[in-house]
Amino acid sequence: MSKRRAAITGVHGWAPDYILTNKELEKMVDTTDEWITTRTGIKERHILKGEGKGTSDIGTEAVKGLLKKTGTSPDEIDLLICATVTPDMAYPATANIISDKVGIKNAFSFDINAACSGFLYSLVTASQFIETGKYKKVIVVGADKMSAVVDYTDRTTCVLFGDAGGAVLLEPSEDGYGIIDSRLYTDGSGRVHLHQKAGGSVKPASHETVDNREHFVYQEGQAVFKFAVTKMADVSVEIMERNNLTSDDIAWLVPHQANLRIIESTARRMGLDKSKVMINIQKYGNTTNGTIPMCLYEWEDRLKKGDNIVLAAFGGGFTWGSIYLKWAYDGDKFAKK
Ligand code: ACO
Repeated sequence: MSKRRAAITGVHGWAPDYILTNKELEKMVDTTDEWITTRTGIKERHILKGEGKGTSDIGTEAVKGLLKKTGTSPDEIDLLICATVTPDMAYPATANIISDKVGIKNAFSFDINAACSGFLYSLVTASQFIETGKYKKVIVVGADKMSAVVDYTDRTTCVLFGDAGGAVLLEPSEDGYGIIDSRLYTDGSGRVHLHQKAGGSVKPASHETVDNREHFVYQEGQAVFKFAVTKMADVSVEIMERNNLTSDDIAWLVPHQANLRIIESTARRMGLDKSKVMINIQKYGNTTNGTIPMCLYEWEDRLKKGDNIVLAAFGGGFTWGSIYLKWAYDGDKFAKK
């Protein structure tokens, strides 16, 4: 029997039906399908439409599917963490709202905001409660309705983002499976390059902030790109070295999907062939906290018990990190329930 670890024992993802294509964006702002595809790898993204719909609706679909496919009752859940930068409202936490909507009543729940690295931060946080033996079933949700904070008159950001989310169930494993190692980092000085200017305590919402379009994503793309491309690769190589992993040992890299060029560069630095890299940015764009669980969900039936998997992300904050885990089940057992 080895150390108690937190293992992912199920994953489910969800994206809304409406698809916003590059062609449609060409009609909205001064851009081209060619520019978006070559600079980012994105062809289309899903958008959540409908009055009163928010991130909790995305998370709720993901969690409902997860509970169903894993045969888990809401009463069994001890803790639910939601990683998001687009909470339904400033408070209460979106995690609380998801818990209510899926009928989780005997748990506590909270949100984590670490921008695009939030799902990794949340997985590591959740894993501590399992490793100590305190809890047995923890759900981590990563979900964002980025369309709520994207300025569809700003061509430099509106082509990048989409709406989606996913959820994983974490349970204890004493057979060597689960989360083996992680490295998480923050550099708050990077906030100048990527943030939302208004709506927080520094600059509460006012007529002026709305008129100035300050409730949307502000990003200096090139500056963020430079950090992202370096840090995501650095931390992925670091996790390999710490765990004596060669590229042959790794079955899959699951990178945050912000830009295809960042993903390819990370894979190159790790010495990984593209066939081992989960890439679905062309279909969803950057769904912030949704990217990594959506990848795991879409690749689930190809994952084998014992696969060495590296998760890697970079996001606003700046935040970045990497997780090394040993996959705990043959994914085809669920066969897209
Ligand atoms: N269509 C056409 N032209 C465009 C568009 C567009 N949609 N957007 C920008 N351009 C123009 C610019 O205006 C600029 O024109 P200029 O040379 O005349 O000034 C030119 O294209 C080049 O712009 P750059 O910003 O230098 O383009 P770049 O190659 O850097 O690509 C991008 C921009 C895709 C945003 C890239 O910088 C990037 O991916 N950055 C990192 C994003 C990221 O990882 N974010 C972190 C996660 S997000 C989060 O945490 C919420």
